[in-house]
Amino acid sequence: MNDESLESTPAPDPRNKLNDLTGREWLYALRSVITTRYPTSGAESYAHELRRIHPSPKPPQLLAELVRFFTKTGGHVLDPFAGVGGTLLACALEGRTAVGVDLAQRYADCYAEVCTTLDLPRLPFVVGDARRLTEYPEVTARLFDLILTDPPYAQMQAKEKTGEHKKRGRSAATPFTDFDADLGNLDYWDFLRELRAVLVQALGLLKPYGHLVLFTKDLQPTPAHHNMLHADIVQELRNVAGLTFRGYRIWHDQSQNLYPFGYPFAFVSNQVHQFILIFRWTPTEGE
Ligand SMILES: C[S@@+](CC[C@H](N)C(=O)[O-])C[C@H]1O[C@@H](n2cnc3c(N)ncnc32)[C@H](O)[C@@H]1O
Repeated sequence: MNDESLESTPAPDPRNKLNDLTGREWLYALRSVITTRYPTSGAESYAHELRRIHPSPKPPQLLAELVRFFTKTGGHVLDPFAGVGGTLLACALEGRTAVGVDLAQRYADCYAEVCTTLDLPRLPFVVGDARRLTEYPEVTARLFDLILTDPPYAQMQAKEKTGEHKKRGRSAATPFTDFDADLGNLDYWDFLRELRAVLVQALGLLKPYGHLVLFTKDLQPTPAHHNMLHADIVQELRNVAGLTFRGYRIWHDQSQNLYPFGYPFAFVSNQVHQFILIFRWTPTEGE
């Protein structure tokens, strides 16, 4: 089927059990790079001025694009690392339901304030530990169509910054929380192990053929390890029975500042993108 034949089939295909998109919309949603420059003030910022108390809030519009592809209207979405609720806001905007979990009461309070400000329905937000997902009745009430989440980036936020940030007096670490339970406060390899355990638990709550869609970004390489966290997450999940890695999309955030890292001596990457890793869940009998 080529681009033109998609043009002539504007209605969703009746065989499509995944989403409500037309062929044309489906095609557009396949591009491997999503480039955005979302506003950080005004109505189109979705209360960014409130959500910015979090070190890494995700734009609801970006999450909405993923929610539209990986669920139908009325679908049910889990975010075990909800932050200030980017996924929940996207679901409310798109007519989906969702449950979020985060360790920090202050993030839950911020999400509640954002819902009031934007006049959006407030979806269930559990202040709790993602490692104990199955203990929360809001989470286990019914199976999910999608797990859409943005876990910590190993210990990236919890480390003091060096180089150009330090020169500019912005070297302070910005951990998500001070809790020991915060996966962002673990070392790289412990982080990967704990993340796998959370996701395996979450997959037990996902409908067959549902998707796990996970944001991540890489750390700077060191002599000891390449630190391509996206690759290590895929590797860590490789032998979860029933889970298939389907590929990734890259989110290029054009609103990120550039810093002259390494100048004038050596190459140091300015990371203005994140990886969106996509997995499909097809458990076999007994799993
Ligand atoms: C990258 S942020 C998510 C940001 C979110 N996408 C948003 O739009 O605000 C990761 C979140 O994971 C939370 N977190 C870390 N460890 C956790 C755990 N064990 N259980 C629940 N939440 C946890 C942190 O508090 C942090 O808010």
